[in-house]
Amino acid sequence: MTDAAMTSRLGFRSGDIAVVTGAASGIGRASAELLAAEGLAVVCWDIDGDRLDAVAAGIRTWGGVAHAITCDVSNADAVSSAWDRMRGLGDARYLVNNAGPPSSSGLSVAEGLVAAAASMSNVGDAWLAHSDACEAMTVTSSIAGTWAAGGTADWYPMSKAAIAAYGRQVAAQHGGRPRANIVQPGLVATPRMTDFVSSDAGRALVAHNPLGRAGRADEIAAAIAFLLSPMASYINGATLVVDGGSVI
Ligand SMILES: NC(=O)c1ccc[n+]([C@@H]2O[C@H](COP(=O)([O-])OP(=O)(O)OC[C@H]3O[C@@H](n4cnc5c(N)ncnc54)[C@H](O)[C@@H]3O)[C@@H](O)[C@H]2O)c1
Repeated sequence: MTDAAMTSRLGFRSGDIAVVTGAASGIGRASAELLAAEGLAVVCWDIDGDRLDAVAAGIRTWGGVAHAITCDVSNADAVSSAWDRMRGLGDARYLVNNAGPPSSSGLSVAEGLVAAAASMSNVGDAWLAHSDACEAMTVTSSIAGTWAAGGTADWYPMSKAAIAAYGRQVAAQHGGRPRANIVQPGLVATPRMTDFVSSDAGRALVAHNPLGRAGRADEIAAAIAFLLSPMASYINGATLVVDGGSVI
């Protein structure tokens, strides 16, 4: 096999392992599918085991390599045992730290910060402890972590700001192994947002977007894949807003 055959368009080495959290749906699912198409072996994590198995099976139907691990990332013990289960698969070089509760969850500030932000550091810190090959991580924040829009529970923008800060901490503290970058999506038409996108408030947001539409999960996945990849080797601690220009 030639070097060209062993590396993807983005420079990923075929067979390297990427863990994707929240991979049963939306942005996580699109990221797992794209990274698998780039030749990585993806290990899909999600709290919803049935949908997760279906996503991993779907990737395998076209020859991609995918495994499924059911895990609640807000439970530190569950995260630790998920990383233990990873040992049989090999070191994860890449981490898409993405799962989080919907803004409509009805959580208190304390609950929301634990479920959304502490879960990202649970997963990321356990990865750093369990893998010798940590190459790059993305964390999924939101434009709500930087720009106030109102209309959502306080814990959501607070947790998304904390997630971005966690990404910068990792970027600063490990000498580039791993690099860590932050993705801030705007409104994305994933299953959890279906009702909102068609509501009056959703239509008003879309009307203010220069592109005149909500984003698609695969458009966020493309940004995640680039930031993880060797093509982004000098990008560390950066925040990439992927929102069609809604906050310019
Ligand atoms: N859709 C948007 O408009 C939007 C905008 C900005 C940021 N985000 C962020 O993107 C990320 C993905 O959201 P999405 O829109 O793809 O949602 P989604 O509901 O389509 O997918 C989220 C997945 O995460 C899983 N999940 C939730 N909590 C979990 C937990 N504790 N442990 C393991 N898995 C868990 C769910 O089961 C689901 O499969 C979230 O962090 C979200 O806050 C989404």
